[in-house]
Amino acid sequence: MRAEGGVGAADRTALLGHAGRTVWFTGLSGSGKSTLAFAVEEVLVARGVAAYVLDGDNVRFGLNRDLGFSAEDRTENIRRIGEVCRLFQDAGLVVLSAFISPYRADRDSVRALHPVGAFVEVFVDTPLDVCEERDVKGLYVKARTGEISDFSGISAPYEAPESPDLTVDATGALADCVAAILRYLDELDPVDGLDGPGR
Ligand code: ADX
Repeated sequence: MRAEGGVGAADRTALLGHAGRTVWFTGLSGSGKSTLAFAVEEVLVARGVAAYVLDGDNVRFGLNRDLGFSAEDRTENIRRIGEVCRLFQDAGLVVLSAFISPYRADRDSVRALHPVGAFVEVFVDTPLDVCEERDVKGLYVKARTGEISDFSGISAPYEAPESPDLTVDATGALADCVAAILRYLDELDPVDGLDGPGR
């Protein structure tokens, strides 16, 4: 059972002026997840929302530096990140998490940690050929030549969401994607996600 003090979700919402949420971006490497998450964070913070980005590269340098890219390690990566998101969400933050999170079951487990409405899955639906063409970090070339193994979309699976809360195609203008995400968040029920079972 969770330990509980006298401060509840409603108190935190009153303090911060908004409910806590986890906005979970999923998509291939190079699909634009982090760029989008940081762009949304900037707008939210400018509006006075306590938003915070958790991103693949920074978490893997710290909390999850013991993990690699096997299926088991990715599951553990997402499990830990999911727990962090749930804590941040419970603390009242709008967490923007940007991880490939290639397995549907792992993403569903993170959703299950959250109260209903507090978890929003955003599918960054950028086609593989576009991600590969961009190859921002030069990793697709290495994956194709076999220099790195288990690369999502090439030599490891990526399971696209079947019913994401929102899908964005990041091949177009960044501003359009950001606007679509903000519109979606603005339309959410302001009390949804405040409380509820979660874990
Ligand atoms: S996840 O699959 O466990 O969710 P995560 O988002 O944390 O992955 O990390 C992905 C980032 O790690 C990629 O954007 C890329 O920069 C780097 N990376 C290094 N090796 C791999 C690999 N084999 N597959 C995918 N990404 C890799």
